[in-house]
Amino acid sequence: MPDPAQQSRPCYLTTPIYYVNDKPHIGHCYTTLLADIAARFQRLFGRDVFFLTGTDEHADKVVTSAAAHNLSPIQWADRNAAEFEAAFRAFGCSNDDFVRTTQPRHIGKVEAYIRRLQASGDIYLGDYEGWWDESQEEYLTETVAREAGFKSPVTGRQLVKRKERNYFFRLAAYEQRLLAHIDANPGFIRPDARRNEIVGRIQQGLQDVPVSRGIDPSNPATAWGIRVPGDPSHRVYVWIDALFNYLSIVDTPERRKYWPASGHLIGKDILWFHAAIWPALLMALGEPLPGCVYAHSWWIREGRKMSKSLGNFLDFPTLEAYAAAYSLDALRWFLATQGPIGATDADFAHARFVETYNADLANGLGNAASRVANMIAKYFGGAAPDPGGVTLHAGHDWPAIAGAAVENARAKVESWDLAGALLEGIALLRRVDGYINATEPFRVAKDPSRTRELGSILYHCAEAIRIASLILWPAMPAKIEDLWGRLSCPVRVGADSFDSLAAWGGLRPGARIEKGDALFMRADTAMPPPTPENVLGAPS
Ligand code: MSP
Repeated sequence: MPDPAQQSRPCYLTTPIYYVNDKPHIGHCYTTLLADIAARFQRLFGRDVFFLTGTDEHADKVVTSAAAHNLSPIQWADRNAAEFEAAFRAFGCSNDDFVRTTQPRHIGKVEAYIRRLQASGDIYLGDYEGWWDESQEEYLTETVAREAGFKSPVTGRQLVKRKERNYFFRLAAYEQRLLAHIDANPGFIRPDARRNEIVGRIQQGLQDVPVSRGIDPSNPATAWGIRVPGDPSHRVYVWIDALFNYLSIVDTPERRKYWPASGHLIGKDILWFHAAIWPALLMALGEPLPGCVYAHSWWIREGRKMSKSLGNFLDFPTLEAYAAAYSLDALRWFLATQGPIGATDADFAHARFVETYNADLANGLGNAASRVANMIAKYFGGAAPDPGGVTLHAGHDWPAIAGAAVENARAKVESWDLAGALLEGIALLRRVDGYINATEPFRVAKDPSRTRELGSILYHCAEAIRIASLILWPAMPAKIEDLWGRLSCPVRVGADSFDSLAAWGGLRPGARIEKGDALFMRADTAMPPPTPENVLGAPS
């Protein structure tokens, strides 16, 4: 059972805020989708959820790209932030707010946090010389730079030695407290492999980190950012500005209840900022720390790393083509269950997409739903039959089977195994298939003296499908809401108690069960991958 104290607390989930100079691609959509699924699960469980995503706008690259498009930085940011918002809406993401770091509500808070840290002595003025990774806009320590051959560990670009007068954050002072926190809270950095990495790196020793950049009056590009309070010759380093979004947006009287965040979902490339620098900043501010920093791995494509130089990023138009060809929910399902949620990378290979689609959706959910609805239509005129009066078949104690699937799913959500939680729903549907094969209702139907038994079998199938659908909803809200309509059991997420929704027997005997069209048509494995150009030729 989930911890009741934890369950009654509001739940705050975040994604990274994305660099606004990029176009949305699979990496952005994936992290936001995972957060959406976690948020939907928690709302279904009855928790008060706040889910935040947004854009990170004060990077130097924004100034450069804006100039290349003959726009001011804010015009360029407005245009691209709107694209991210539209992409996430098209992806069915249910975020409660969308932060942009150029918004006054964020800027004012960042200034206040910096002032507090200056006052406490955690931020001070000093000189810095180090290895600068231009592509990531971050300094690397001597050790890390040497290990990486003085190239960016992320992009391979040559590092440059740079010296500047900067404001520094006393990160080194938090070494022991960080290690103690991670040790006392094993779920703080997940998955485990990522925690070990961070612990290893902290144990190598921490140095204070620069948190500002100088403004060069002759170069307007260097003025893009939030001014350091009390020193107009410096602006806040973009990473520090960005990390503060998690707090700034809920740092209001109405939203304070959401802090500390339950989970920051991120990709593994930005773990250091989230698992070392961010918690140390929060400690310095005297704020409680988030429950979990969850770093997923990478999507690769047809076995190859995606990169700008290879030009093989799975971009948003291609994702839209998949959604148009196979349905948005099928795409969400594939990304959520076959993605790199754990410590290993995952391949977006078209053949794998079609295989998953056919196995889980066309032959799994779609087939179970239509088989059972068809038999109820044929033998009971489309009304849910009566469950009682018949001994359950050996090995098929349905209330126990369905109850275990629900509890397993709930436990997996709590431990951030979102893919595992969703797959509990599919496993339950496979049990329905197995039950149909074992009990052969189409044969039982031939014997008029066995009508009660037939009704009982089909009731149990329909009820197990209803319960499986609750577990599947967070990944496939549109298809599942369609299914709920067909089963005459609409769900008011958040308003209906999850325990009563998930309790065996919710399906009312006599309720109308509609056949409807197939939820998922079987896909032809020979079809080429959908692209924005050919999508009209793909199955619908
Ligand atoms: N702006 C920073 C984050 C600041 S958070 C306070 C940033 N932005 S980003 O636009 O580069 O977004 C990166 C996010 O997309 C990361 O979580 C990253 O891991 C994810 N992905 C980028 N490429 C990816 C894949 N190929 N696969 C999965 N996710 C990847 O970093």
